Order: sequence, then C-alpha cells, then structure tokens
Amino acid sequence: MKLLVTGGAGFIGSNFVHHMIKFHPEDTVVNYDLLTYAGNLENLKDVEDHPNYHFIHGDIRNRELLEYIIDQYQIDMVVNFAAESHVDRSIIEPDLFIKSNVIGTQNLLDVSKSKHVRKYLQISTDEVYGTLGSDGYFKETTPLAPNSPYSASKASADLIVRAYYETYGMNVNITRCSNNYGPYHFPEKLIPLMITNALEGKELPVYGDGQNVRDWLYVEDHCAAIDLVLQKGKPGEVYNIGGHNEKRNIDIVELIVDTLGKSRDLIKHVSDRLGHDRRYAIDPTKIETELGWKSQYMFETGIKKTIQWYLDHKNWWYKIKSGEYMDYYKKQYGSK
Ligand code: NAD
Ligand code: DAU
Repeated sequence: MKLLVTGGAGFIGSNFVHHMIKFHPEDTVVNYDLLTYAGNLENLKDVEDHPNYHFIHGDIRNRELLEYIIDQYQIDMVVNFAAESHVDRSIIEPDLFIKSNVIGTQNLLDVSKSKHVRKYLQISTDEVYGTLGSDGYFKETTPLAPNSPYSASKASADLIVRAYYETYGMNVNITRCSNNYGPYHFPEKLIPLMITNALEGKELPVYGDGQNVRDWLYVEDHCAAIDLVLQKGKPGEVYNIGGHNEKRNIDIVELIVDTLGKSRDLIKHVSDRLGHDRRYAIDPTKIETELGWKSQYMFETGIKKTIQWYLDHKNWWYKIKSGEYMDYYKKQYGSK
C-alpha cells in the first residue's frame, strides 16, 4: 500500500503514522500536513528516518501540489485527518473551519477521484450527530444534527464524501469516532489541558456544571480501527468507533487531580461553552460485528498511561504552551 495521510502531524494522525510504521513497515506512508498551530513534527521524531516514511508540507486545498505528490509516490489510498479540530476555536473563528474542513475535503476528494485512488477514508466524528439525552447511543443511521461550527463543517464534509460515492461510485469510507485521548494530544483539549494545568498549579476550567458526558477512546484503539477500515471497509459505508467509556467531565478532572496528588481547589467552574452538547455515546456494533474490531483499553488503564506520558514528556508540552497558545488561552479563559 502507498498511503497518503493528510494531517499526520496532529494528535491522531501522528499516532496513526506510528501505528502504520509499527504494523506495516513495508507500506509507504506520505504525511501531508500544513503544520498549523496543531501540527508538530516533534510528534514524529521516532519515525522520521524510516525509509518508507516521507513528510510533505502542504495544504489540502492545494490541488497542484496534491496531484504532484500522488503521482510522485504512486499513492493508492488516502486517509484524511487534516482539519481544524477544536470546538472552542470554531466558536471564535468559524470561517477557518469551513475553509479547511469543507473546501479542503472536497479538493482532496476530487484530486483522489481524478487520480483513481483505490480508497478514500474520511476521518469524521461523533459530533456530527449532535447531542444525546441521558440515554440512547449514536448509530450510523442516526440523523446528522451538528450544533457547533466545527461539527457542522465535519458533517458538511461527510455529505460531500457520501455524494462522491453515490454520484461517481468512488470507493469511500467514513469513520465517526468518539473523543480520543493519549500521547501527543494538544493541550487545548480537556484531558491534556487538565493534566498540564494541574502540573503547573494553574486553574482547571470546567465548563458549566461539569455534568456533560463524553465517550472516551484511547487513541491506539482508534488507529487500529482505521487500519481495519482501510483494509476491509465496504465501499460507501460509515463506521462508528467507540469503546463504551462514558464519563462526566467533572469526574475526569477530579480523577486527574487526585492521581497527580494535587488539590481539588484548583478546579473552577467557568461559563459554559456556547451550544455545549450534553452527551455523546457511540454504538460500535457495526464495526465490531462486520469488521471484527474491539477496543482494548478501559478508560482507567488508558488514562494512567496518558498521565504518565505527560509526566515523561514535559518538554513537549512546555514548548507548546507559549506564544500563539497563550494568546488563544487568554482569549478563551482570561489571564489565570
Ligand atoms: P489536530 O488538531 O491535533 O490535528 C490536525 C492536523 O491537521 C494538524 O497537524 C494540522 O496541521 C493539520 N491541518 C489542518 N488544516 C490543514 C490543511 N488545510 N491542510 C493540511 N493539513 C491541515 O486534530 P486531531 O485531534 O488529531 O483530529 C484529527 C482528525 O480526527 C480531525 O479530522 C478530527 O475532526 C477527527 N476526530 C478527532 C477526534 C478527537 O477526539 N481528537 C475524534 C474524532 C474525530
Ligand atoms: O467527540 C469527538 C470530538 O472530541 C472531536 O471531533 C473533536 O475534534 C475533539 O476536540 C473532541 O471535541 P470535544 O469538544 O468533546 O472535546 P474537548 O476536549 O474540547 O472537550 C471535552 C469536554 O470537556 C466538553 O464537554 C467540553 C469540556 N471542557 C473542555 C475544555 C477545553 C471543559 O469543561 N473545559 C475546558 O477547558
């Protein structure tokens, strides 16, 4: 396989590149990434010298460069992680999300079609389904009802991918995963923000009442599922990915504080996120029964590994938590 991984310098993309090099070292992996604030080549230090790994600095909106790269490396499969991924930033600056997530996806898809790639896989999210009440699960048949500019941009991209299957018969898949956590998670997201702030003795900002529920999946489990969909996914199908690890935000924050031996006084309830979805929960029956995937990590194991990773990689996140990051942080949380 000669695989183009777009957005491979971000959190999940870089974990996926590591996964591919570990389990399929004979395959070519071309990582194509714009290196926005979230893209970080330090995530790929361990693999940068691997003979079958290549990095290209580029934008998924750049048609000419994509065409050139697909020809040069004889790419036959594309997996698209590239996106603006943070809900809070989408509330501040929605237009960026439309440009990268919608226009970018359509461009990448169209180039993939014109180059006759064997498969195009779109990495999507459970947020396209909107929010759940206290019971029920998202299935692949749940209607799309996105509530944030981020999730609306991802749902728009999903519809374009679907249209390329229905109209042109392109071999596409869409995966919709729940919240990931693990190594290289950018410290603007709940879990790495709380771990790193707690280590720095900073306030831990919990939105609203902290009772919102997310369904957490260790990133390695997500990567294994993506690998399987690339190999075995049926043309045009959507696969939901999740491991039945529903947790309330406040319980996660308290667990992190307690594990690190810090004081719960650091926790501060702050104004709620606008349009804050109450609960996400995935029904993964389809990928489990049709493709044989199953999550391996219980949350309690994955979170311990993750906390340890942030303790062992202080330099990685110290460097990130300065410059542009602090400008965003002050805008979002004030100066504490
Ligand atoms: P991330 O923000 O950590 O990484 C995104 C990467 O995309 C960065 O390396 C960035 O430089 C790159 N990028 C952004 N715009 C680009 C463009 N126009 N051209 C090329 N590269 C560009 O995101 P993540 O958390 O790793 O998420 C990856 C994908 O998975 C996204 O599509 C996201 O919607 C989806 N997803 C994320 C989660 C999650 O919990 N993080 C869950 C489900 C789905
Ligand atoms: O569900 C999949 C999605 O998960 C992905 O599509 C997104 O790319 C990814 O960012 C993530 O979105 P969330 O909005 O769920 O993740 P985030 O880490 O931003 O927030 C998780 C929960 O924690 C959410 O209910 C908001 C809350 N939160 C978050 C932050 C950053 C806080 O209470 N305080 C905070 O400071």
